[in-house]
Parts: sequence; C-alpha cells; structure tokens
Amino acid sequence: YRRLRVALLGAGAVGSQVASLLLEHADELADRAGATLELAGIAVRDIDAPRDVDLPRELFTTDPETLIVGSDIVIELIGGIEPARTHILQAITSGADVVTANKALLATHGAEIFDTADQVGASVYYEAAVAGAIPIIRPLRDSLAGDRVHRIMGIVNGTTNYILDRMDAEGAEFDDVLAEAQALGYAEADPTADVEGYDAAQKAAILASLAFHTAVPLEAVHREGILGIDKAMMDAARHAGYVIKLLAVCERLAGETDASATGEAISVRVYPALVPRTHPLASVHGANNAVFVQAEAAGDLMFYGAGAGGIQTASAVLGDVVSAARRHIAGGVGVGESTRANLPVVAIGRVTTRY
Ligand code: NDP
Ligand code: HSE
Repeated sequence: YRRLRVALLGAGAVGSQVASLLLEHADELADRAGATLELAGIAVRDIDAPRDVDLPRELFTTDPETLIVGSDIVIELIGGIEPARTHILQAITSGADVVTANKALLATHGAEIFDTADQVGASVYYEAAVAGAIPIIRPLRDSLAGDRVHRIMGIVNGTTNYILDRMDAEGAEFDDVLAEAQALGYAEADPTADVEGYDAAQKAAILASLAFHTAVPLEAVHREGILGIDKAMMDAARHAGYVIKLLAVCERLAGETDASATGEAISVRVYPALVPRTHPLASVHGANNAVFVQAEAAGDLMFYGAGAGGIQTASAVLGDVVSAARRHIAGGVGVGESTRANLPVVAIGRVTTRY
C-alpha cells in the first residue's frame, strides 16, 4: 500500500483513543483505506501529562507546526478556537485533508475553513463534531441531499443529558454529576460550554446549516442551558409525567417571512423542555444522544447512540480518517458544503416548554 502520513493534534479523551486505535488496528485500517496510515506524531501541550491509554513516548511532540508539514491527513482534536483554527488552516494550505471534532470552531469559523479548503481542493471531515459516535453529518449532507428536511429535534449534548438523567433517576446533585461527567471524558475542557448550552447551540447551527443548505450563524441560535434546573423542578416534572431534557430544535418555517425569495425562514433553538415520559426522547439515558429528522420524502428518521466519550467519538473520527485516505489516494476533489440557499434565520426563542 501507499503510505499516508497522519498527524494527530491532541491526545486527550478523544485523541488518545484515536491514536491507540490507529496503532492497534493498523493492518485492518490499511485494508479499508487502501493505504497505510502512518501515525507520524502526536502534538500535545505537555508530553508528560497522564494519558488514558499507553502510547509510545517517541510519538509525542510540542511542535504541531513541524508535525503538520508534509502530512497527508491532519486530525485536529485540541478543541476550542485557537490554536486549532491556525493549525487547520496551515494543514489545508499545505495540502492535507483535515479531520476534526471541533464544533466550537466549525460553528464560528466554518466558512473560512471550508472556503480555504475549496480553494485548494482539500476536504474537511467532521462527523464527530455532532453527537459523538452517531453518524449524522453524512446522512444530512449526503444521504438526504435529494430530500427536503423540515425539522430536526434532538438531544445533542451528552454531558447535560448525563446530568439531567442522574438528577431524574437518582435525585443526584448537579455539581456531583457534573464532576462525574468530567471524569468520564464527556465534558468540554470548560464545562460551561455544556451546561450553558453553547455546545448544543454550536451543534444545532452545524446541523441546521447542513439540513437547510444555508449558513446559520451561531448568534442566530436561541440558547438556554440547564443551570437553573434543580431537584424540585425535576420532581415536579416527574409527578406530572414528564422528564426535563435539553433539546435542540431546527425547523423550516413556511410563510413566516417575506425576506427570502421562497418566503421561508428557519428557526434554531436550544432549551430545556418537558418531554412526556412516553416519548422516545425520554428514554435517552446517560451520555447518549438522539436526533430525529423529519424530511418531506423520507418521513421520520431517528439516529441514536453515544453522544460523548473518548472511544465512542474515536469511531467517528477514524471513519473520517478512512474516508480522507480513500479520497486522498483517489486524487479526489474537495467535498463542497452546499450552503447556498441563504434562508433567513428567525430568532423566535422558545415555542413551548413541552414536547
Ligand atoms: P481534551 O481536553 O481531553 O484534550 C485536548 C488535547 O489537546 C490534550 O491532549 C491537550 O494536550 C491538547 N492541546 C491543548 N492545547 C494544545 C496546544 N495549544 N497545542 C497542542 N496540543 C494542545 O479534549 P477532548 O479529547 O475531550 O476533545 C477534543 C475535541 O473533540 C474537542 O473539539 C471536543 O469538542 C471534541 N469532542 C469531544 C468529545 C468527548 O466526548 N470528549 C465528543 C465529541 C467531540 P495535553 O494533553 O498535553 O494537555
Ligand atoms: N461535551 C460534549 C458533550 C462532547 O457532552 O456532548 C461531545 O460533543
């Protein structure tokens, strides 16, 4: 097989598992990709920091810029805006394809990154950026490209679902369960992103952009987190036959505006909602996620699985790495992001507290 040089940036909850699987399953991945995926190095902040898995020390470096040079595929698992943005742009302009799980970056600087990739014919893969292990980016971008999506509703943050679920089932205290979610590798480096709904809002912006083929700015997403939810509220919801879940809702609104040529607009919002206990979303436990998609021709589709966790998310990252390798050796062109409809986004906030 041809050898492809793979650079990994970050070896935290997700990156360490990606490195481990790349090394452990090297032969199998080579057969799937049609190329040997040679892990050239792993860039981190502190080479001696404790890792979730044992990895060869000689792979580690604190010099991502040098590691990126000459790489065919760069996997960015640092998170946040900088230096992730700079490294991704360097990778793209130096001829690499990029795999990232960084929803914070894509929801704020996606246009810059995709435009730069388009200019040089590179591809950016980000299946892991929304809902962890669940395949949802490709289904929306590719499988449903011939349909019209009307609505997406789901639980897209594992940490908050874990917290709410434990508060509901066991009467656990918010702070204790958040600490557990952090220890299990579900939470963002700054868990404010999870509990205040920023992470879910970033994912909702990405999903809505793909589903409605229009650029959805993060500022247009109505966002409420779960910080105000306490035990008394959980108990009251349970007695009334409901459970509280942090929902992301993205929907097409017909006839809501005459600002667009089609007379359509979209609404994207994240907020805690009362979900009837009989509703399938009420059965999403722990750090799992679920995404319902309603499309004109396909009807109702449901995607369910692990929404967070190092090894689970590594599955989605490695799927992208195999795709990138296949495209790379085939000499393919970039995967375009179709965001040309330019529908206005209407900030309508909460519609109801119940679903
Ligand atoms: P962690 O915080 O666990 O790991 C971050 C890694 O990046 C660490 O290895 C850290 O190095 C390294 N790093 C940080 N800053 C720098 C820098 N300036 N230069 C080089 N390396 C740096 O993050 P996660 O693994 O949890 O998340 C990674 C990405 O995946 C994020 O974008 C996150 O949103 C996304 N994601 C995470 C999921 C999860 O369940 N955790 C699920 C889906 C997506 P060091 O170890 O030396 O500190
Ligand atoms: N912190 C995120 C979550 C990781 O809890 O869902 C997965 O994107």
